[in-house]
Amino acid sequence: MAQEDVFKKLVSHCKEYGFVFPSSEIYDGLAAVYDYGQMGVELKNNIKKYWWDSMVLLHENIVGIDSAIFMHPTIWKASGHVDAFNDPLIDNKDSKKRYRADVLIEDCIAKMDEKIEKEVEKAAKRFGDSFDEKLFRETNPRVLEHKAKRDELHARYAKAMNDVDLNELRQIILDYEIVCPISGTKNWTEVRQFNLMFSTEMGSTADGAMKVYLRPETAQGIFVNFLNVQKTGRMRIPFGIAQIGKAFRNEIVARQFIFRMREFEQMEMQFFVRPGEELKWFEKWKETRLKWHKALGLGDHKYRFHDHDKLAHYANAATDIEFEMPFGFKEVEGIHSRTNFDLGNHEKFSGKKIQYFDPELGESYTPYVIETSIGVDRMFLSVMAAAYCEETLEGGDSRVVLRLPAAIAPVKVAVMPLVRKDGLPEKAREIIGNLRFDFKCQYDEKDSIGKRYRRQDAIGTPFCVTVDHQTLEDNTVTIRFRDSMEQQRVNIDQLQSIIGEQVSLKSLLKKIVE
Ligand code: GAP
Repeated sequence: MAQEDVFKKLVSHCKEYGFVFPSSEIYDGLAAVYDYGQMGVELKNNIKKYWWDSMVLLHENIVGIDSAIFMHPTIWKASGHVDAFNDPLIDNKDSKKRYRADVLIEDCIAKMDEKIEKEVEKAAKRFGDSFDEKLFRETNPRVLEHKAKRDELHARYAKAMNDVDLNELRQIILDYEIVCPISGTKNWTEVRQFNLMFSTEMGSTADGAMKVYLRPETAQGIFVNFLNVQKTGRMRIPFGIAQIGKAFRNEIVARQFIFRMREFEQMEMQFFVRPGEELKWFEKWKETRLKWHKALGLGDHKYRFHDHDKLAHYANAATDIEFEMPFGFKEVEGIHSRTNFDLGNHEKFSGKKIQYFDPELGESYTPYVIETSIGVDRMFLSVMAAAYCEETLEGGDSRVVLRLPAAIAPVKVAVMPLVRKDGLPEKAREIIGNLRFDFKCQYDEKDSIGKRYRRQDAIGTPFCVTVDHQTLEDNTVTIRFRDSMEQQRVNIDQLQSIIGEQVSLKSLLKKIVE
């Protein structure tokens, strides 16, 4: 099945089974804003807990905070967001559609990459087992020609972005004959900068209302609390502050479901280090964060690093962890060496000294910062995309199964009486009564047992427990495993440990520190 179709199916599956709904749907929706349903919120909370525990449980030198969304407007001046948090926009005069100039060019680069991959695929089919891919990529004239063109465009684009040269961005679009996907024409306007922050007013107009912003990242709430946490927590460098919270961006090209939203959630950690040690810590955090992702078992080959050509105004090194979504490798997390830019600027703009006295060095300095920043919603999408699976079963039957990592699955165990009589429902309820303190359980007695299994597969429940007449005689039940569909007869007393072993976050957390 084409990846595009898989993605469409995933989006409707998310709605049909209560994971994600379009916001304000009865009013025809609100673009790029989504609500999480009864299953989605459980999965989202589990992802957040996995991240939170990996930071504050596994590291005694990382603590958490929860800062407000509204902050003093000067914070966004100091952080550079008022002046530099912009997207370069271009309009097509015929279709009247607005695009991000950088996205148009990146799509063009991606098409060039696709041409190279097609050549490689064709050759791999032609040569079979004797195919030497590396040699082919290095010597095939057509691949080399495509690659040279691609690299030339990429270098020109990277320079234009670094120099914030809007005329050059437009010129690239014209030179490479990039057309509007709607009108098919090259009738473009100039490129203009567009600030992504949402703003509103605080206080009544009579008092003189103050323009405030909805935070576009949670990080600034950490920076402005640096001294509060360091002093009250008696923290010694190196140490980190973690935070999970909502962020808002007026994204113009909002697309791909929950991948690019206007209201989303971030999990960010700022790690404060000695000046000069930041690049060592940058490497360390790259490694730790990749381990966190891989421990989920979604497939190691689905991850790659993408180092930035264009560094943000505050960074001296930056990389993305990209995940293979149905629409290609995409950024899920950013790891940035933010230098002392933020703390230094808050010192300048607030007039308050924001320094750390290092008792070992006997001197004060502005700490450097390594940031790890991951979007909860993108993480959610990558987990769902990797888990979604359509299977044909023996006998021609089929099922949709979410192969979610058991530790973050919304429901851990479904308990089902085989029939709705003879005391089986009461027994099933009694089992749930004991399990519910540790696991999110679901009771289901409607329809045939086969249909009930399918419903649980579709929401990714790792275990189904069936209560039958034998249960009343010998206290045993059948436990069915989602992925293998294998069934075992076990004693009710064993359920706690069988389920507990598979669904605990501990097993994931242990893989990170191995
Ligand atoms: N504090 C640094 C920062 O915000 P970023 O690369 O702009 O860096 C970090 O964002 C992460 O936040 C991204 O890797 C992505 O997972 C998530 N993110 C950013 N914009 C988003 C959007 N519009 N919708 C959903 N997630 C988004």
